Amino acid sequence: MEAILKVKDLGIAFGGNKVLDSVNFYVNEGEVLGIMGPNGAGKTVLLNIISGILKADHGEIIFLGQNILKESITARTAMGIGRTFQVPRAFEHMSVYENILASVVYGQKVSEKAAAVKAREILKLVKLEERANEPAGKLRLINRKRLEIGAALASDPKLLLLDEVAGGLTNAEVNEILEIVKTIKGRGVSIIWIEHIIQTLMEGTDRIMLLANGRDLLTDTPEEVMKSSIVNEVYMGAEEDD
Ligand SMILES: Nc1ncnc2c1ncn2[C@@H]1O[C@H](COP(=O)(O)OP(=O)(O)OP(=O)(O)O)[C@@H](O)[C@H]1O
Ligand SMILES: [Mg+2]
Repeated sequence: MEAILKVKDLGIAFGGNKVLDSVNFYVNEGEVLGIMGPNGAGKTVLLNIISGILKADHGEIIFLGQNILKESITARTAMGIGRTFQVPRAFEHMSVYENILASVVYGQKVSEKAAAVKAREILKLVKLEERANEPAGKLRLINRKRLEIGAALASDPKLLLLDEVAGGLTNAEVNEILEIVKTIKGRGVSIIWIEHIIQTLMEGTDRIMLLANGRDLLTDTPEEVMKSSIVNEVYMGAEEDD
């Protein structure tokens, strides 16, 4: 299997706060890599660096064989990196359909007709067809998460970055998100999935990386990671800090 993404010795500090010290990992083609780690571990920061929102102080990001550290956010999106945001970002007054359509049209050369077809296809995939005409601002959380995933799919990503799309949902809703992610994976998309919920990590990922203390402390199959004493130590330590 070929790695679609390789991250080497990635580091970033904000002032004196060294959030990522040296992070190293890869994502294979068609794989779902889960990322877990305590609050403030730098998981979102890592996604922001991969998508180009933040600039790393050092390290390499190789996407499809090319170092992308100097590429802009839009260039990375065009190359095939899509992402969701931890706090969903929809145009509140626009309908669900218009939101998806806006994402499809944004930065892409696509005819009106093709854009409409694609927007409908995405609505179906994220199971929002019945909400197509509702204002995005009126959606409940599960549907906001669906819309967030749909918007990220608009650029046809080869690598999809998910930031806590299952956070705050009920068990039944988490299962619906798991189904959607499985469908996306089934289309050959590689995925990095940040989540706190153990069930999503166990059922929805192929491998899990534990990010803590600025480093990739452990990366292994979900079973091995959950058995590891390192995970316990990290989370126990985090609790004692509170
Ligand atoms: N743009 C920024 N400028 C300064 N500090 C930042 C910036 N972005 C993140 N940080 C800091 O980096 C640290 C890691 O934040 P991050 O949001 O990546 O954590 P996280 O692992 O995603 O946590 P959570 O599980 O709560 O989402 C925090 O201390 C945060 O305050
Ligand atoms: Mg976060």
